[in-house]
Amino acid sequence: MIHIKTDEEIELMRKSCRLAAETLLMIEPYIKPGVTTNRLNDICHDFIVSHDAYPSPLNYRGFPKSICSSVNEEICHGIPSDRKLRNGDIVNLDITTFLNGFHGDTNRTFYVGSPRKNAQKLMEVTLECFHKAIDVVRPGAHLGDIGATIQQHVESRGFSVVREFCGHGIGRNFHEEPQVLHFGSFGQGVKLKKGMTFTIEPMINAGKPELRILSDNWTAVTMDGSLSCQFEHTILVTEDGHEVMTRIEGTPV
Ligand code: MF3
Ligand code: CO
Ligand code: CO
Repeated sequence: MIHIKTDEEIELMRKSCRLAAETLLMIEPYIKPGVTTNRLNDICHDFIVSHDAYPSPLNYRGFPKSICSSVNEEICHGIPSDRKLRNGDIVNLDITTFLNGFHGDTNRTFYVGSPRKNAQKLMEVTLECFHKAIDVVRPGAHLGDIGATIQQHVESRGFSVVREFCGHGIGRNFHEEPQVLHFGSFGQGVKLKKGMTFTIEPMINAGKPELRILSDNWTAVTMDGSLSCQFEHTILVTEDGHEVMTRIEGTPV
């Protein structure tokens, strides 16, 4: 069942989404060569807790940390560690907050120091497909339109879409119905309705789409070792379109 949120629920959820977005803004200046992903985790944890919220990943299905940090060929669900980020790396930080009984979920991929050419190209295409997909969200559109839009753009640029992970409904539960695939066909799948809230979070690989899971049982990495990039927002379907609940006005993503 897909939960349709009431105006009261939406107002509460906006606060959680805003905090998740603010956490990403807050952490950006700390992302520099030499910083460990553990330190980024700890700063985010303290920020979230000091705003009376809980970091949703912590202990979620046994996940041991408060954020996910995925570096270079890591696709998602990387576990913060003593690994030091290096100049030229890309790192995705995925933040989910639980506040007022609602989750807000957002992630961004950042450059560490000076970007490499190949990373820049992947980042551009990932952002483009992400924004094109958000733009199709309105009542009456189909979930398949989102996936098809992403797949078409990414594959036309010679990159690939990860199939094993998808966006998801979100609200009182971290993950709820529907599943939001990042590939598919126009006109297929559930019709969008005002009051639905879900994430769009395409994972795009520079090489082939296949992945494997590391022995930590969490970190997904590209099978071919190519770079992977991701962005995520929590989206509300409104009367005449959508609201990006985890976007702060004036930010580029
Ligand atoms: N935030 C991730 C998502 O976008 C889920 C992380 S689950 C965790 O859905 F356990 F790894 F934290
Ligand atoms: Co998500
Ligand atoms: Co997320």
